[in-house]
Amino acid sequence: MDSDKKKEAAPFFKALKNFALTKADMWSTPGHGGGQGLKSSVLGREFYEFFGKNIFRADISSSVPSLGTILDHEGAAEDAEKNAAEIFGADTTFFVLNGTSTANKVVFFATCAPGDIVLVGRNCHKSIMHSIILNEVTPIYLKPAKNSYGLIGPVPQSEFTHEAIKQKIKESPIVTNKRIRKVQLTVLTNSTYDGLIYDVDKIKEKMSALTHFLHFDEAWYAYGHFHPFYANRYAMSPYQKKRGVKRPPVFATQSTHKLLWAFSQGSMLHYKMGTNKFELDVQGLKEANLFHASTSPFYPLFASIDISAAIMDSDGEKLMGKALDEAIKFRKEIINRYKKHKKADSWYFELWQQEMKLKHVNKDPKNWIIDGSEPWHGFEGLEKENVLLDPLKVTLLTPGIEENGEMQPFGIPASIVSKFLNTRKIIPEKTGFYNILFLFAPGVGEQKEERLVKALDEFKTLYDRNEPISGIFPELINDYPHIYTPEMGLKDLANKVHDFLYINQIFEIIPKMYNDLPEQVMAPHKAYYGLVDSKAEYLSLDEIAGRVAVFMILPYPPGIPLIMPGERFPQSGGILDFLRMSERFDNMFPGFSTEFHGVKKIENEDGKIEYRISCLKRSKKEAAAQ
Ligand SMILES: Cc1ncc(COP(=O)(O)O)c(C=O)c1O
Repeated sequence: MDSDKKKEAAPFFKALKNFALTKADMWSTPGHGGGQGLKSSVLGREFYEFFGKNIFRADISSSVPSLGTILDHEGAAEDAEKNAAEIFGADTTFFVLNGTSTANKVVFFATCAPGDIVLVGRNCHKSIMHSIILNEVTPIYLKPAKNSYGLIGPVPQSEFTHEAIKQKIKESPIVTNKRIRKVQLTVLTNSTYDGLIYDVDKIKEKMSALTHFLHFDEAWYAYGHFHPFYANRYAMSPYQKKRGVKRPPVFATQSTHKLLWAFSQGSMLHYKMGTNKFELDVQGLKEANLFHASTSPFYPLFASIDISAAIMDSDGEKLMGKALDEAIKFRKEIINRYKKHKKADSWYFELWQQEMKLKHVNKDPKNWIIDGSEPWHGFEGLEKENVLLDPLKVTLLTPGIEENGEMQPFGIPASIVSKFLNTRKIIPEKTGFYNILFLFAPGVGEQKEERLVKALDEFKTLYDRNEPISGIFPELINDYPHIYTPEMGLKDLANKVHDFLYINQIFEIIPKMYNDLPEQVMAPHKAYYGLVDSKAEYLSLDEIAGRVAVFMILPYPPGIPLIMPGERFPQSGGILDFLRMSERFDNMFPGFSTEFHGVKKIENEDGKIEYRISCLKRSKKEAAAQ
C-alpha cells in the first residue's frame, strides 16, 4: 500500500460484506452454499437460523476473486494486514487463523533449523514446547519465579545475563556446541497468564548480543500498544533511540480473540526489524505460515481480526482507558468489602496485588510495578522496575494460604467458589488451588461486574450459613452419592477439600515441583519419536521414578509443562508428589478433578481413577542395571 494513501478502515471486512450481500450463486465449497444446503432438513434449518444468514453468506471459498487470496496475502487480505502492521507498530503483520498456538509454530518454522539452540522461558505455553519438538531444536530454559499460590511468574533479570546463559549452555547435557556466541531464538511470555508484564525495552537491549531473534508470546496482551499505561512494555514498542544501544529483530504473537474481539482462533503475528535493520524474508515467513495453515480459511474469522484492528485504531486508547477504569473500580469494591468483613472479624475474598492506599489504586503505572522486596506477590529474585502487574488481570484469593506459603487451618478452595459461580452463569478464566483469575477485557461493562460481586457476596452468605449443597450442587449428589450427601453443607465440603490440601501440604509440593527442573536426558524430539517408533510404554505412578518422559505433562490451565519429553522423572518428590496427590484428589473429590494433558486417566475394576504416563522403554542393559 502506498504509505501516503489514507488507509481504508477494515478493508477485508468491507469487501467480504459487499460480496456476501450480492448473494452470488456459489458453485464452490463450502457445501452449505451460503446456507442454502442446510435448509432442507429440520436440524439444518435450526442450525442456520441460530447462526443467522450472514455468517453462511460470508463463509466462502478462496475462489472469490474480489477478495484476493488470504493465504497469498493479496488483495483485501493484504490491505488488512498492512493496516494492522501500522496500527500495532509492526513492520510486517500476518493474520493467523489457528490461534497463537499456530502463530508460535510459524515463528519457529521461519527462524530455526534442527539443532539450533533456543532459549525459552520455562513458563511458556505448550505451543512453544510443541514448536521445540517439531523443529528439532535444542532448548535451554530460563527459570521463571514461582510463588506459593501456585502462580508462575516472569523470568527474573538475573536469568538474562551473558554469564547466566553461558553457564546454562556449559551445563546442558544436550548442547553439543558449547562455544556458541548467540542463540538462534529467545522466547518469553509477555504478559504472563496472571498479568505480569516485562520491561520489554530493557530486555531487547540486554538480549541483542545474545540472540539472533527475540520472540514475545503476547497471547494475552494484544492491547499493549494502545494505552500509555503500558509504554515500553510490549514487543512492538517503538525504539527509544539510545546511542550505541542495539535491539534484535523481534516477533510478537497475539491472540486477537483472547481480549479483543476476533472470533476464537483469530491471532496476529507481528515482526519488527532490529536496529541492524535485518530485513526478514517475508516470502519465507509466508511459506512457514503455509505449512501450518488450512487451505480453506474461514473468511469471517479473518474479517474479525481486521475489524478488531480497525476498532483499536480509532478507539484503542479510549477503550483501554475505560477497561482500566472498570478493573480498578472492581478492585476497589473487593478491597472495601474485604476491609469491612475483616473489621467484623469475618472473611472475604482478597486481591493479589500491591498493598496500597485506596487512592493509589489508579491508572498510574508506578503503583503497579512489582517491588521485588515486597512480600505480597510471594516471588523471589525479582528486581525493582522489572515487572508490572496489569490491573486488567484480576486474581482473587480465597482464604487458606498466606503469601509466604504457610497454609491456614481455615480455608476455602477456589474450585468450590468457581463451581458455585458457574451455577450463577459466571465463568472465570482460570482457577488455582486458592486463586481465581478474571479478565477485564475492554467492554466488560458495569452490569457484568455487579453480577460478579453479587455472586461472590452470595457465596459468602451461603458458606457462612453452611447451606446444604443439595440446593447448590445437586449434580454432585446425583452423580457421586457415595461421596457427597444431601446433608453436607457448603462449609463442610470446603473444609473437607481444604483439609485434604492442608494434610498433603500442597504448597510445599508446588514450589518444589517447579523449582527443581527435571534432568534433561535427550532433546525433546528424540524422546517424542519414541512414541512413533513404538519405544514407549504407559506406566503407573509407582513405576515412573527415574524414567524418561515421552509426552509433556501439564495441568490445564495454565498449560505450562511440568516435564518435557526427554526429561527424567526424579526418584522422589517434585512432580511425582504432585501427580500422586492429584490422583488421590481425583478419587476423593470427583467433580473437581484437575485437567491434565499428557496423562492418561483410566478407571480400574473398583472404579478407582489411576494415572498412566508414557515413558521410553528401557534398553535391556538399563533394565538389567536396575
Ligand atoms: C501464553 C500463551 N501462548 C499461546 C497460547 C495459545 O493461544 P491460542 O489459544 O490463540 O492458540 C496460549 C493459550 O492459552 C497462551 O496462554
